[in-house]
Amino acid sequence: MGIEKKIAVLPGDGIGPEVTQEAVKVLRGIEEAFGHSFTLTYGDVGAIAIDNSGDPFPTESEDLCKNSDAILFGAIGDPKYDNDPSAKVRPEEGLLRMRKVLGLFANIRPVQTYEQLLEKSPLKKENVRNVDFTVYRELTGGIYFGKPSHISEDGTSAVDTCLYSKEEIVRIAKLAFEAAGRRSGKLTLVDKANVLSTSKLWRKTIQDLKDDYPEVKVDYIFVDNAAMQIILNPSQFDVILTENMFGDIITDEASVISGSIGLMPSASVGESVALYEPIHGSYPQAKGKNTANPMASILSLAMLLENSFGLSEESNLINKAIETAISEGVMTEDLDPQDPKSTSEVGDFITDMIRKNQLEQQEN
Ligand code: IPM
Ligand code: MG
Repeated sequence: MGIEKKIAVLPGDGIGPEVTQEAVKVLRGIEEAFGHSFTLTYGDVGAIAIDNSGDPFPTESEDLCKNSDAILFGAIGDPKYDNDPSAKVRPEEGLLRMRKVLGLFANIRPVQTYEQLLEKSPLKKENVRNVDFTVYRELTGGIYFGKPSHISEDGTSAVDTCLYSKEEIVRIAKLAFEAAGRRSGKLTLVDKANVLSTSKLWRKTIQDLKDDYPEVKVDYIFVDNAAMQIILNPSQFDVILTENMFGDIITDEASVISGSIGLMPSASVGESVALYEPIHGSYPQAKGKNTANPMASILSLAMLLENSFGLSEESNLINKAIETAISEGVMTEDLDPQDPKSTSEVGDFITDMIRKNQLEQQEN
């Protein structure tokens, strides 16, 4: 029996629309192959929303998200705002507000490698072969949201505030402990507890919580050392838990291990509806060229189907189709500069693979 669900689609800026379009293509393939019914409603966020309404996350988009069963998001950002610190409103504000109002306090970013792509990694092949870890990044607290935060009136000083409550730490820590319990049972807290008070609170909170999860082994590592270990020996990690800004930085670092940031999906979960997005940004240089890698967006869709709708078979089929695309060399220029396929060709191939595999499974 097929299921019926409502999905909010927020393609955003830059290459967001073109990669999201491929994920939607795959979604339609899944819908057809399994007899599901997905109602997609599109909304604006980011620079496009500022252009259309003056607001990077307008009320219509907020309502749309709140009334949906899951959100598929592309990317935000436009160079016309990047070098203008005085811009009154910036696209990023839309993303931050979206996270806050939807209570998306945990950002889950899996990092894994593909055997056929090990050569593409900037790290040594033997060091990246068995990499498979997930970062749980806190997403609605810390220095991103703490007040006060402003530049002084005379323009000669500025302040940002890093603030965490125990409750904010506990709610994401629980998710990370549970994930570690389902995986190999190792949780690493990344902090700066040798200096920062907020980090001391993180560490104390995790120490208090760990007895509730006897199957999980907890490690603690300072963020500067973590940045080094991710390069030196990334396969030591299983589940990493960290605060907002450290998570922002180390997930960009970790994203290139696989050979391309264009392969990293993510899920943001919290109080109710969850959001799925590729971790790459809007990559404005490639906008409209049909060259961007749609795999991270398609993998984000796979996370959506599994986490929000419990559709594991469908999600596995997508993951398998991506692996086939990689092994048959159906890849965009970031992964195959010699013989690149276009964004839409990669999406077409993956969608066809899904149809074919599903038909084969039905026949057996
Ligand atoms: C990310 C991005 C955002 C962040 C920016 C665009 C505000 O870098 O999702 O990692 O810093 O959280
Ligand atoms: Mg980032």
